[in-house]
Amino acid sequence: MVLGWNLGHWSTFSWKGRQLLQFPDDVLRLGEALWRLRPDVIVETGVYDGGSTLFFAGWCRHVIPIERQFRPGVREAIFQGADILVTPIEADSSAPETASLAESLIRPGSRVCVFLDSDHSARHVRAELENLSPLVSPGCYVIVADSNLPELANAPKGERAWRSDHPGRAVDEFLAGHPEFLRERPTPLFSTEFDFTGLSYFPMTWLKRRER
Ligand SMILES: C[S@@+](CC[C@H](N)C(=O)[O-])C[C@H]1O[C@@H](n2cnc3c(N)ncnc32)[C@H](O)[C@@H]1O
Repeated sequence: MVLGWNLGHWSTFSWKGRQLLQFPDDVLRLGEALWRLRPDVIVETGVYDGGSTLFFAGWCRHVIPIERQFRPGVREAIFQGADILVTPIEADSSAPETASLAESLIRPGSRVCVFLDSDHSARHVRAELENLSPLVSPGCYVIVADSNLPELANAPKGERAWRSDHPGRAVDEFLAGHPEFLRERPTPLFSTEFDFTGLSYFPMTWLKRRER
């Protein structure tokens, strides 16, 4: 994972022609989980080129991409590439009013999943978790991307600050005060005697809302 990070392997993929900044195993595991969860709505934070939005659009009826500043052409590409309802929000994904706006766009009774992949500082992710996790339906997940940053901190292209300031810290703090969520990575549909959990940028930051 460290070698791949340094070589930029993660930046070489796309979905429907838009760059997708994810590790392929994570994309397939997301697809596998979403196929089983069948959410109506997926809220994602951090859009960049729109690849993740178009990926999520394949697994639900309504996607809500939240981005601080959409790059030129990205909104148009998402509208063109998605054949479901897309309601982009250009705002700080950690702000309570952004979560309120997202909530107002969601039809009551919808099954909702959330994917967090914007600013990866612990403070930002903690605020996103506090504000956006109430949208998550029982049995569904909030998934926090790039929680393996501490493992990459000492890599040549890593940042020393990632040793202590990372999404995983926000998840630990959040879980301590939110018993309605449990840490649970979905089990793969197919397996061998080997554990491939480590082949992920977010192996242990799948948070499932308990069924009532
Ligand atoms: C890692 S990229 C997202 C990658 C994308 N999810 C994908 O899989 O291809 C992070 C994105 O988050 C956005 N971002 C950073 N801080 C933000 C904030 N406070 N609120 C909303 N978006 C933010 C950046 O502009 C950037 O487009």
